[in-house]
Amino acid sequence: MDLTVDLFGTSFRNPVLLAAGTCGFGEELAAVAELDRLGGLVTKSVTLEPRAGNPAPRVAEFGAGMVNSVGLANPGASAVRRERLPWMRDHLEGLQVFVSVAGHTPEEFFEVVEILEDGPGFLGFELNLSCPNDARRGGLPFALDPEELARVVEGARDRTARPLLVKLAPNTPAWSPVVRAAEESGADGLTLVNTMPGLVLDPFSRGPLLGAGAGGMSGPALRAVGVHAVWSAARLTELPLVGVGGIARGSDAAQYLLAGASLVQIGTASFWDPRAAERVVKELGEFVAGQGVARVTELVGGARMPGSGEDGVRRKPDQNPKLEG
Ligand code: FUM
Repeated sequence: MDLTVDLFGTSFRNPVLLAAGTCGFGEELAAVAELDRLGGLVTKSVTLEPRAGNPAPRVAEFGAGMVNSVGLANPGASAVRRERLPWMRDHLEGLQVFVSVAGHTPEEFFEVVEILEDGPGFLGFELNLSCPNDARRGGLPFALDPEELARVVEGARDRTARPLLVKLAPNTPAWSPVVRAAEESGADGLTLVNTMPGLVLDPFSRGPLLGAGAGGMSGPALRAVGVHAVWSAARLTELPLVGVGGIARGSDAAQYLLAGASLVQIGTASFWDPRAAERVVKELGEFVAGQGVARVTELVGGARMPGSGEDGVRRKPDQNPKLEG
């Protein structure tokens, strides 16, 4: 049984990565988890200037998941280039690493990519265009504005030859405009989905549980949204898809693969159990073996949906107009 995934001109040990914002630059989990069992990781989002982040509490649990408003706390692009990338090169061998990039303006994204581009220790970039705690100044997150999204992706594309993932938002009103904008402006893959805007109030104090007020919701409640987003995007593009949202078990990861994802990311589950991603790898292996297929990649796009045909093969909208959107 083979869990490897060949993508972006390289090989992933397996399709399970740690999600952005849940493992720092790897060092936060290296002491307590066996990272070399994973396919890779995505770093904390890197901004041009260092950011201290939002007031505490920054995370809070509720019955169906978690809300966070960390505020993209990170040391800034120059310190990451100087200190974190060499650490990743020396300690994360064999893992495929994406550096997450965030900014308030397209130009901030471009500068971060320029500063990091020739650094060691990572495969590609994931453009975080959808953080609910850091909307672009005076407007929607880039991921909800196809024209602005295209501006960022195009400018980043001009500055890097590395694989470029674009992270989209769960509250996207229609998938077609953003998927097409990302594809046409040079994305190599799409990550679906970021956290969902959310607010949890303490009804007694009448205040929010998070220091910043509202935040991003993640965990089990996000899974059905994420799987649906991947399934929707898979009908619109041939770009590789990376599924994230509420994965805590191998069977959760399998849902994303069946919906059309080639890779998956584990986020909130790692806060509850730092070894959750390793467990997902093991359970996914058992699931694949139980399905009687030789390679995990055989699951990709295999969901048997009404209208998709007995074979479950994913079809683009022009082949099955009923499924558009
Ligand atoms: O750092 C942050 O506030 C990230 C939040 C998110 O994407 O949920």
